[in-house]
Amino acid sequence: MQDLIILIGFMGSGKTFLGNKLAQLLSVDFYDLDREMEVRTKMTIPEFFTQFGEKKFRQLESRVFLNWKLPGVIATGGGLVDLEINRKFLKSDNKLVVWLDPDWDVIWSRISETSRPLVKKHSDLALKELWIKRCPYYRESCDIRYQDHDPSRLRDLIYNNHTD
Ligand code: S3P
Repeated sequence: MQDLIILIGFMGSGKTFLGNKLAQLLSVDFYDLDREMEVRTKMTIPEFFTQFGEKKFRQLESRVFLNWKLPGVIATGGGLVDLEINRKFLKSDNKLVVWLDPDWDVIWSRISETSRPLVKKHSDLALKELWIKRCPYYRESCDIRYQDHDPSRLRDLIYNNHTD
């Protein structure tokens, strides 16, 4: 199995929840790219957006991501795929990329009441459009697409993908 499993997908797709559970099932470490950035900047993500804006956020996110060296499972931010350089890295060797892809209604029910900067900034229609725009990016970047929410099934899928 690859040393690094990267979870991608829109906000609210379950990357942190499933990533945590998956790492436990595989007995490996779990990381969350957003949390790593919060530790490095000593700011919350909303604070960073307010102070520096989205462009600077993307630059920092990309820098932390492209220099990632630790093995395990890592959940990434939903906008990671916005930058082409990140998509190229996702397609390079020695990592397994899993796209978590629940239906829009599920995503919306999970994010609508949260304080994520892009949720606060955009209308529900604009957010759905962003999701539609990003879906081809997730699709082209992933090795496995997973629409369920069950960690054990995902673990099995990853094992099967490896032995195929
Ligand atoms: C973002 C998703 C967030 C976080 C930031 C921007 C996005 O991560 O990185 O608020 O552009 O979709 P989650 O996908 O973990 O919510």
